[in-house]
Amino acid sequence: FLSSSSPGFLTQHTWRLKSTSARERALQYQPGQKIHGFTVKEVVAVPDLFLTAVKLTHDKTGAQYLHAARDDSNNLFSVQFRTTPMDSTGVPHILEHTVLCGSEKYPCRDPFFKMLNRSLSTFMNAFTASDYTMYPFSTQNGKDFQNLLSVYLDAVFFPCLREQDFWQEGWRLENEDPTDPNSPLVFKGVVFNEMKGAFSDNERLYAQHLQNKLYPNHTYSVVSGGEPLAIPDLTWEQLKQFHATHYHPSNARFFTYGDLPLEPHLKQIQEEALSKFDRINPKTEVPSQPRWTSPKEDHVTCSPDPLAPDPNKQNTVCVSYLLGDITDAFEGLTLSLLSSLMISGPNSPFYKSLIEPKLGTDFSSVVGYDGSTKEASFSIGLQGVDEEDIERPIRQLLSCTLCSRFKKCRKTNKTLYENTHRLTLSMSPEESYLEKQAKAEEEKLQKKIEVLSDSDRKQIYEKGLDLLAAQSQTQDVSCLPALKVSDIEPTIPITPVQISTAGGVPVQYCEQPTNGLVYFRALCNLNTLPEDLRVFVPLFCSVITKMGCGALDYRQQAQQMELRTGGMSVSTQVITDCNELDTYEQGILLSSSCLERNLPHMFQLWSDIFISPHFDDEERLRVLVMQSAQELANGIAYSGHLYAMTRAGRHLTPAGDLQETFGGMEQVTFMKRTAAMADLSQIIRTLPRIKIHLFNPDNMRWVYNTPAIVSDAAAHLEGFIKDVAKNRKERKPVRPNIIEVKLNSKNKILSSIPTFHPCPMKTFFQMPFPVNFVSESIRTVPFSHKDYASLCILARMMTAKFLHGEIREKGGAYGGGAKIGGGLFTFYSYRDPNTVQTLSAFGNGIDWAKSGKFTQQDIDEAKLSVFSAVDSPVAPADKGMGQFLSGVTDEMKQSHRQRLFAVDHKNLVDVAERYLSAGQKTCGVVILGPENDVIKKDPSWIIK
Ligand SMILES: *[C@@H]1O[C@H](CO)[C@@H](O)[C@H](O)[C@H]1NC(C)=O
Ligand SMILES: *[C@@H]1O[C@H](CO)[C@@H](O)[C@H](O)[C@H]1NC(C)=O
Ligand SMILES: *[C@@H]1O[C@H](CO)[C@@H](O)[C@H](O)[C@H]1NC(C)=O
Ligand SMILES: [Zn+2]
Repeated sequence: FLSSSSPGFLTQHTWRLKSTSARERALQYQPGQKIHGFTVKEVVAVPDLFLTAVKLTHDKTGAQYLHAARDDSNNLFSVQFRTTPMDSTGVPHILEHTVLCGSEKYPCRDPFFKMLNRSLSTFMNAFTASDYTMYPFSTQNGKDFQNLLSVYLDAVFFPCLREQDFWQEGWRLENEDPTDPNSPLVFKGVVFNEMKGAFSDNERLYAQHLQNKLYPNHTYSVVSGGEPLAIPDLTWEQLKQFHATHYHPSNARFFTYGDLPLEPHLKQIQEEALSKFDRINPKTEVPSQPRWTSPKEDHVTCSPDPLAPDPNKQNTVCVSYLLGDITDAFEGLTLSLLSSLMISGPNSPFYKSLIEPKLGTDFSSVVGYDGSTKEASFSIGLQGVDEEDIERPIRQLLSCTLCSRFKKCRKTNKTLYENTHRLTLSMSPEESYLEKQAKAEEEKLQKKIEVLSDSDRKQIYEKGLDLLAAQSQTQDVSCLPALKVSDIEPTIPITPVQISTAGGVPVQYCEQPTNGLVYFRALCNLNTLPEDLRVFVPLFCSVITKMGCGALDYRQQAQQMELRTGGMSVSTQVITDCNELDTYEQGILLSSSCLERNLPHMFQLWSDIFISPHFDDEERLRVLVMQSAQELANGIAYSGHLYAMTRAGRHLTPAGDLQETFGGMEQVTFMKRTAAMADLSQIIRTLPRIKIHLFNPDNMRWVYNTPAIVSDAAAHLEGFIKDVAKNRKERKPVRPNIIEVKLNSKNKILSSIPTFHPCPMKTFFQMPFPVNFVSESIRTVPFSHKDYASLCILARMMTAKFLHGEIREKGGAYGGGAKIGGGLFTFYSYRDPNTVQTLSAFGNGIDWAKSGKFTQQDIDEAKLSVFSAVDSPVAPADKGMGQFLSGVTDEMKQSHRQRLFAVDHKNLVDVAERYLSAGQKTCGVVILGPENDVIKKDPSWIIK
């Protein structure tokens, strides 16, 4: 944990005012000192990380505690347990869900979720890994910390674990329509559906198989999240037993971080939890994996991916080695360095021998050093491999000649070449995969149903009705602690920025404690870009820093970037105007950072990249194109809701239309087509055409965040603009229908398209997933409009009070809710077994809002939750970036804040009626999901 925390989290406020107080206070503790049932074991100053670490042990139970005292107001708590299942029923995962269904002191369902709107937390979550389960939260408010700590302790140590909770979260047999006893019995349950969704992601599936097969003798051989068809083997008794033996202080570790004092934490943890336990011997250790005497090979199958850039190249193959224990920190560090030398960047040997000869489209999802298991592993592999090439990659993967330099090292030899605990695992698509899965589920279901008597069936029906009734019941959440709206800071802290110019270009400077790094970014407007080039911009951005430039080939360029900078990248930007929904800014953002002394090198690289990029290296381009296409295709199973939401906004605003082109399904399709082209010369001719629309001094602006003004930064900036602007000619917008609004002095150029008319549209994308992603987006108002604040609160309240219950608890989806952004009010569901039912839930949510059946308490809670997002901590590198990009100043944020405070019941009903009602709204609806007869038969849908 320590090594991954970074000084970047310091806020300017605490940096200046509190300097070293929390760290110094913590240095006063003495080993042997007794505090609230704990004994201090060790106190260590860690100056590199600006913190003091204090290690303690709880006397009675043996619970371990680590405190990191650091002058950061974003305080964090986490408790974790070693959870080592011996079967794939998903018991630790289902337990993680079920402890959140209520506890002794807080008997209401889903207390974490309910705290979201009673707290100012900056983070709340729970995770199940292969061998532990963790429960972290963070907040900047001391009172909130105590409240959340109380809820977390009670949830993990004293959960109710009711039978009904187990059915809801784990699995159950239920009538498909719970109100109809004659409808067929099916499997339901939140984790059951979540895991079906998770394993529809082939990368995730592969990673799971690889771990299970490399460590076949203990807990790593099973699926801790739950194998969908093994989940129905778990009983409620087994779940309770697992809790008693694993969620015990003797099997727990606590971690706290931040500037709040340690003693009150210890006191509360002792009083509310640990004092009530004795010591047990949890026997949860994971033994070492017995070593193999000879290497093994294995093969698995997956579902074919219709989005694969090349349908014939869908195989994954990987070689994995078992390494030593991860508590050997030095070996861990050496091996991760070695792993990065072997794999990352175009100069690495594996990149040269595997990616460049195009044996595969990219490295496999598991690659390099992995220290997340008790004994580490090292893997090297490829995805997107042609069936016919499998043998050849395997040979390449194993080939020693590749890495003759590594072979000279005895350590590497022992770890890799002489290591017989080695697994070669391949995965190929199987045409009937999904069909087989469905059949296996059906058989499992029939087995469960066969043995049911009539009275069992009757009981199932009644239990289903009981659950439905329980879910529909209004919950009494008054037991939960809560902050009040008056606990929220009335004003925002001002982020001071200075604006000057360099080379005729506006420069924003923001002084920040960045640990010696200079963060430099530039926005280049693309308002003159012809429409036919728009779809190429993301590709332009992803390759421009990776093709080589000037005298450097791409390897040398990568080397220079690694040597001299903290990274250089380019991304697309679509910024909806905060005053007017039909105007927006389009451009690209250059992002980079380096140590101050390397500034000249970094600007030289930026100049070379844009003056003389090596676009014509077709081989190199193809590698990069395949990689991007593969990444996009892989992302859909994971972020399907984002694709659905982006697409739903496509016909509602010009910015929404451009977002879809830059980062939606349209972009995925375009990249798939590009990756399939035999000849990339058209692309090679197109990329330079984008470049000529950049770097007009009149439509750029720059920003840099550093600890102190860098005296010659202005000179470097001027030199850069002179270099890149030298060869360019004046460009006029080629789309006569674009209107430009130039906001003087800020170089912000807005575009609008008078011919654009928002229109409703319903689109269905048939996908090879067992679950759906559903979205509906409605055009509303921009940020500065007086109703925007009401819509923000409404989205949050509707999510908490209505949509969550309908879509997740009743519908069995993994998640769902409403969001506002870019002037669009957007509903979504995530990994959802339903489609039409979810669309009705969206509509019912609007009716619910219009009916005004909510209380002042509900509104206040929604406000807390909105403010905790608004006030979430921003890293020093990113302070002032909102203002730079969107032009939203601190004054505008403060006005918005005041409007948020002022939102009342009447406003909420009013905006629901005026913007969201049928007849008032213009909306887009999108579903990504498996074949769907209802949708197909409905002519109002466009099927893709
Ligand atoms: C480890 O697991 C494998 C595969 O299940 C089995 O064949 C082998 O006997 C086990 N070894 C030990 C030491 O338990
Ligand atoms: C590493 O192994 C290779 C082949 O097994 C051998 O040729 C080489 O000498 C070994 N190097 C060391 C340092 O042991
Ligand atoms: C906060 O969330 C819980 C959980 O759904 C809900 O019962 C409560 O009424 C919510 N309050 C508001 C204002 O959304
Ligand atoms: Zn889960």
